[in-house]
Amino acid sequence: MPFEKPSVVPGRETQGAVSTEIRDIEADAARRVRQGGAPELHPRRDYPPYRSTVLRHPTHALVRVDPEEVERVSPAFGHTDVNELESDLTIQHGGEPLGERMTVSGRVLDGEGRPVRHQLVELWQANAGGRYVHKRDQHPAPLDPNFTGVGRVITGDNGEYKFTTVKPGAYPWKNHVNAWRPAHIHFSLFGNAFTQRLVTQMYFPGDPLFALDPIYQSIADPAARARLVGTYDHDVSVSQWSLGYRWDIVLTGPGATWMEGEDAHD
Ligand SMILES: [Fe+2]
Repeated sequence: MPFEKPSVVPGRETQGAVSTEIRDIEADAARRVRQGGAPELHPRRDYPPYRSTVLRHPTHALVRVDPEEVERVSPAFGHTDVNELESDLTIQHGGEPLGERMTVSGRVLDGEGRPVRHQLVELWQANAGGRYVHKRDQHPAPLDPNFTGVGRVITGDNGEYKFTTVKPGAYPWKNHVNAWRPAHIHFSLFGNAFTQRLVTQMYFPGDPLFALDPIYQSIADPAARARLVGTYDHDVSVSQWSLGYRWDIVLTGPGATWMEGEDAHD
């Protein structure tokens, strides 16, 4: 029997109720795959456990425009616009940010495994206490005067990128009672023009919140969502300095990284 959409009252359900919805949807998706359906590699835009998607998901077909026409009048970034120091989020203020210093590195690849060179990669994240520098984030965790949480870099000839930052903390949100987002870093890939921009999130291995998180779980295919999790890589760790995580971003093909729609904020 297909999954039935529950009635939605944002923010009032327990984690247990939301987790039951998540498991029911996943079981239904797995059953469809067993019956010959294609695995769902991208998030459902209408995913009731992630409450706000119910009202804001697109209900009409996308409007196609000629991208060349738009791109002719839109600004684009060249590598000369980005300073090398912008990839280090720990040196943007007068002192060191608090938290576990880490290096995050990986490659941006196309579906054939070819490097995607000279692309603008942007990153934004909460501080080690799980707090964003943003007026909409007012939960009672401390701001860090030495950490803003934004950085950017241009991929190299092998499609590689590298950031130095601190590990973000988990933070609460108001999807349901006692809802917490697993620690994550937001990534944006610009492509060659605004119209090509892709946004996604990287997570950290072994997070106990994965099973509870409606955003992570909105990708029904377990293998696809696992590709959002970086791996600890001792070769990326820097002696006496930082712990290393590796996370490759694959833009197309069956091993593609999930990219979220423009309407996701958390
Ligand atoms: Fe976030």
